[in-house]
Amino acid sequence: MYRYASSVLFLASVFAFQLSHSTEVTVKDKDNNLCLYAKLMVNFSVSYDVADNKRETAMFELPSNVITDGSACDNTSSTLKLNFGEGHSWSVNFTIKGKTYQADTITFSYNLSDTVVFPKSVVNDTLTVNVKPQIADVVMDTCYSCKSKDTIEAESVNQTLWNVLIQAFVINNSTSENITSCAADVPSTPVAPTTHPTTTTPAAPVTNSSTAPPPTTTPTLPPTTTPTLPTPTTGEYRVKPDENSTVCLMANFGLRISVNSVEMNFEPNGTTSSGSCGVNSSQLVLTSNAMTIMLTFANDSKKFHLHALNVTGKTSSGVAFSEANTNLSLWEAPVGSSYMCNKEQNYTITGLLTLYTFDLRVQPFGVNKGDFSTAEDCQADAENFIVPIAVGVALLVLILIVLLAYFIGRKRNMASSYETL
Ligand SMILES: *[C@@H]1O[C@H](CO)[C@@H](O)[C@H](O)[C@H]1NC(C)=O
Ligand SMILES: *[C@@H]1O[C@H](CO)[C@@H](O)[C@H](O)[C@H]1NC(C)=O
Ligand SMILES: *[C@@H]1O[C@H](CO)[C@@H](O)[C@H](O)[C@H]1NC(C)=O
Ligand SMILES: *[C@@H]1O[C@H](CO)[C@@H](O)[C@H](O)[C@H]1NC(C)=O
Ligand SMILES: *[C@@H]1O[C@H](CO)[C@@H](O)[C@H](O)[C@H]1NC(C)=O
Ligand SMILES: *[C@@H]1O[C@H](CO)[C@@H](O)[C@H](O)[C@H]1NC(C)=O
Ligand SMILES: *[C@@H]1O[C@H](CO)[C@@H](O)[C@H](O)[C@H]1NC(C)=O
Ligand SMILES: *[C@@H]1O[C@H](CO)[C@@H](O)[C@H](O)[C@H]1NC(C)=O
Ligand SMILES: *[C@@H]1O[C@H](CO)[C@@H](O)[C@H](O)[C@H]1NC(C)=O
Ligand SMILES: *[C@@H]1O[C@H](CO)[C@@H](O)[C@H](O)[C@H]1NC(C)=O
Ligand SMILES: *[C@@H]1O[C@H](CO)[C@@H](O)[C@H](O)[C@H]1NC(C)=O
Ligand SMILES: *[C@@H]1O[C@H](CO)[C@@H](O)[C@H](O)[C@H]1NC(C)=O
Repeated sequence: MYRYASSVLFLASVFAFQLSHSTEVTVKDKDNNLCLYAKLMVNFSVSYDVADNKRETAMFELPSNVITDGSACDNTSSTLKLNFGEGHSWSVNFTIKGKTYQADTITFSYNLSDTVVFPKSVVNDTLTVNVKPQIADVVMDTCYSCKSKDTIEAESVNQTLWNVLIQAFVINNSTSENITSCAADVPSTPVAPTTHPTTTTPAAPVTNSSTAPPPTTTPTLPPTTTPTLPTPTTGEYRVKPDENSTVCLMANFGLRISVNSVEMNFEPNGTTSSGSCGVNSSQLVLTSNAMTIMLTFANDSKKFHLHALNVTGKTSSGVAFSEANTNLSLWEAPVGSSYMCNKEQNYTITGLLTLYTFDLRVQPFGVNKGDFSTAEDCQADAENFIVPIAVGVALLVLILIVLLAYFIGRKRNMASSYETL
């Protein structure tokens, strides 16, 4: 049933139902070695002529099913061509320039006869636009990465590229682990004056260049100041022992980490959660594009707590890190209840890693019917509650005193008016 439904969805996914998934392709050279790798997302906005001298705008995404016919690699230049739908194609060619490579031209061809994409088009030709992308100075044997959106405008066509990861001129049959990030992905120093001393951020595009000295055993991340990030999105993560069981671990939170002062928000969208539930120990593993976070909770018969945290990933400039602490006692609450902390909290996990939580609620043991049990509030929230309660009680007492005074006064007044009669 599920399979049938998904294949129907798949067939229907021409354009209208297209889910936002990356397009990932590889190109091999004549010796069957990997020579070009690309993973990216592209949105197109195309305006075209319809009857009565009017124009319509078609919006669609580069689908994940593409055919790479027409792609080719050479020693000094290469072309990536992605063919999709009814005769549409998107291609980009790369050239080597010294120790770097760059994208030369993006060529987008669209077939206006495709009435699904371009309904009521009065033209039935295939049109082509050429634009110059801003993909340059990519260090050889590194991947070009640009998560930020980049809209390239041309007459009648806007193309928005994002989540781009491309390596042209791949060496030794495998993509590089090193990344050249686009300028838009590199956090810049805040403009406003700050109280802490600022270190200069590197000029973009930034590469952890191959001319750098060999890495030492300890991670040496460049300390940078980051601009204030927006509050991270709250993710809702669930663990089931197997597909037919009910949820056994629940966690809702927004996360930010700071690795050697480089702050990164954890993005729940696109994150997969997995894990396990045991009697004495439960685990939640969150895997996003940027990092993997492993949380281990311990159950010491009456109470649970976060026992271990392991964060592995890469900063936006491509520097790998792996930080862990297996001796924590955070988020403690009775087994059978949940731990909650709505206020922003920060926890020093290791010398390099700080964890920030927002709207936190976790229950790693004894989940009943997929709902959180009563919450044990963290101190920060408790303090927040005490003040309004105290103010409320004080107000109530005040109102009682005023009312009492009023009635006593009225009684006296009435008594005295009887006397004067
Ligand atoms: C999640 O990401 C996809 C594509 O990256 C996007 O289409 C979708 O709107 C996002 N969902 C949320 C809730 O942000
Ligand atoms: C490169 O990898 C592909 C498959 O991944 C393999 O078929 C090919 O033989 C490899 N080439 C070399 C030179 O190892
Ligand atoms: C891309 O297009 C899809 C659907 O047309 C839309 O949901 C999504 O928000 C667009 N993304 C961007 C970055 O414009
Ligand atoms: C392209 O973007 C510009 C600026 O946002 C807008 O004015 C124009 O209408 C867009 N063109 C298409 C075809 O979407
Ligand atoms: C490309 O490089 C290979 C080996 O480095 C060489 O044999 C071949 O002649 C070169 N081809 C061109 C067109 O330069
Ligand atoms: C353009 O689309 C029409 C209608 O779908 C199709 O018949 C035609 O073959 C397409 N042209 C190309 C070059 O694929
Ligand atoms: C890249 O493609 C464009 C358009 O097809 C072409 O004009 C240009 O010469 C190509 N550049 C290289 C270096 O091949
Ligand atoms: C395209 O349009 C021309 C005239 O507008 C017509 O003669 C021709 O048959 C059309 N071609 C297709 C494939 O529909
Ligand atoms: C990445 O760069 C470092 C130096 O910055 C270098 O030692 C390492 O070999 C590079 N890794 C790859 C896979 O190119
Ligand atoms: C889950 O339930 C379905 C139908 O009730 C059954 O076919 C399947 O084997 C079960 N899977 C597991 C892992 O128990
Ligand atoms: C943290 O996770 C990484 C990758 O999964 C692993 O290599 C490392 O050993 C873990 N560290 C600890 C202390 O568990
Ligand atoms: C961490 O939290 C404490 C209070 O809980 C606060 O005083 C401190 O400024 C916070 N540190 C950072 C770096 O946010």
